Amino acid sequence: MITLKQIDEIPENTSLCILYNELKDLKDILVSDAEIEYAKKRIADKKEIVVLNQYNRFVILVQKPKEDDVPKKAEKIRRLGHEVFKITEENHIQDLVIENNTPSTANILDLIEGLVLSSYQFNKYKTKKEKIKLKHLHVFDFSLDKSQLKELQIIAESVFICRDLVNEPVITLTAEELGKEIEKMGKDAGFDVDVFSKSKIKNLKMGGLLAINEGSPNPPVFIHLKYKPKDAKNKKPYVLVGKGVVYDTGGYSLKPADSLDWMKCDMAGSAAVAAAFYAIAKNKLPIYLEGFIPATENRLDGNAIVPGDVITMYNEKTVEILNTDAEGRLILADALAYAAQVEPELCIDLATLTGSAMRAIGKEGAVLLGTADEKTKSELISCGYHVHERLVEFPLWDEYDEQTKSDIADFKNLGGPEAGAITAAKFMQHFTSYPWIHLDIAGTAFYKTPDNYRGKNGTGFGVRLLYKFLKNKSLA
Ligand code: BES
Ligand code: ZN
Ligand code: ZN
Repeated sequence: MITLKQIDEIPENTSLCILYNELKDLKDILVSDAEIEYAKKRIADKKEIVVLNQYNRFVILVQKPKEDDVPKKAEKIRRLGHEVFKITEENHIQDLVIENNTPSTANILDLIEGLVLSSYQFNKYKTKKEKIKLKHLHVFDFSLDKSQLKELQIIAESVFICRDLVNEPVITLTAEELGKEIEKMGKDAGFDVDVFSKSKIKNLKMGGLLAINEGSPNPPVFIHLKYKPKDAKNKKPYVLVGKGVVYDTGGYSLKPADSLDWMKCDMAGSAAVAAAFYAIAKNKLPIYLEGFIPATENRLDGNAIVPGDVITMYNEKTVEILNTDAEGRLILADALAYAAQVEPELCIDLATLTGSAMRAIGKEGAVLLGTADEKTKSELISCGYHVHERLVEFPLWDEYDEQTKSDIADFKNLGGPEAGAITAAKFMQHFTSYPWIHLDIAGTAFYKTPDNYRGKNGTGFGVRLLYKFLKNKSLA
């Protein structure tokens, strides 16, 4: 991972990237009149980035976009960070000085964030590894506090951990392995992790998790995370729940091949939750958090559940299974019901839950539904704009309840052909008894084609969103 360091003098012979507002501000800074003329021409051609080859170094000039909308501006600058990263790679730059020539600290951090997040690689299974050339960023900005760079470095590291977990195939990342990885993260960052084994899950009668696990050769786990620093501001915990389906074949309601080939990503909710714990604990935010992750494969086998089965959940409600591919809501329902015992101030679950959410808004954002108050929901939505992990709210109107009623059990795990993201959430709502927000991240957790600094495959969606929201709560 690229290291970030603050410097108080610009070294000679090291490539330099300058974020600036107007070219005239750069008069005194190391660039000649001829270069300024060249830059003017490029800018007139609507090039936001100008690269000057000064033989002993490259100078990369990045003009701050003129944009009044604060979150939009931040995102434009992250994207410029991605462009700068490509330039450093093309030119084999190992060390880069970043200089802030603007009055805003926030935007230099956005540039660095976009740059660093672009440098992610998942090459552990390549026998010939091509390494990133850029190693160190030296940040020259007196307005910046040292802790801000450290915080950003930890957030980027957490996003990478999340992406790594999502990109890991099920052959190596079974539910038990996921538990072990999260235990390691807890030790490293300073939060508690308790991994419940199958026998404990049986004793607790988590019927949803056990039913989905029936078709799997590997046992389930239920992972309890806890971060309770002495200086925590809140008495009642913020609770995070993450879907941990380490592979979703669909079970007997088998998925078609082109939906199957990326279903290792079906634990992205759990990866985001664990990575958010990691970022928050490592940055020592004063906030009390609890986390719950039900984890299993959804596979098929002689013992696997079939459509028509009726199961009894952790909270003793009964569910008729009508589609074994609607497994996420079953394992999450157990986790949500179990979470009641810690009396959540607010519970947020993240899940790659429905193709319906993905079809509705594509990869540009996640779907939010929930019973939390309007203020809390709008705070989370606002954080989503700021980190560009955007959210759009869908309704939980009572009328949808009809669709999850069963003829023979309390509920069924399938709604009608329409509004699938909503009926999935309506199902889960029956298992909550506290303020709750559900984020359906099916469209945003994994990209089959590259997208700027988010890259390809696991995106790490949710980590920066949860961090920002919970940091705000820790300051309140
Ligand atoms: N894991 C899938 C949803 C998913 C789809 C995640 C695309 C990531 C990308 C989930 O378990 C699922 O299969 N949902 C079904 C529910 C349906 C059977 C009611 C779906 O959305 O098709
Ligand atoms: Zn499924
Ligand atoms: Zn699934």
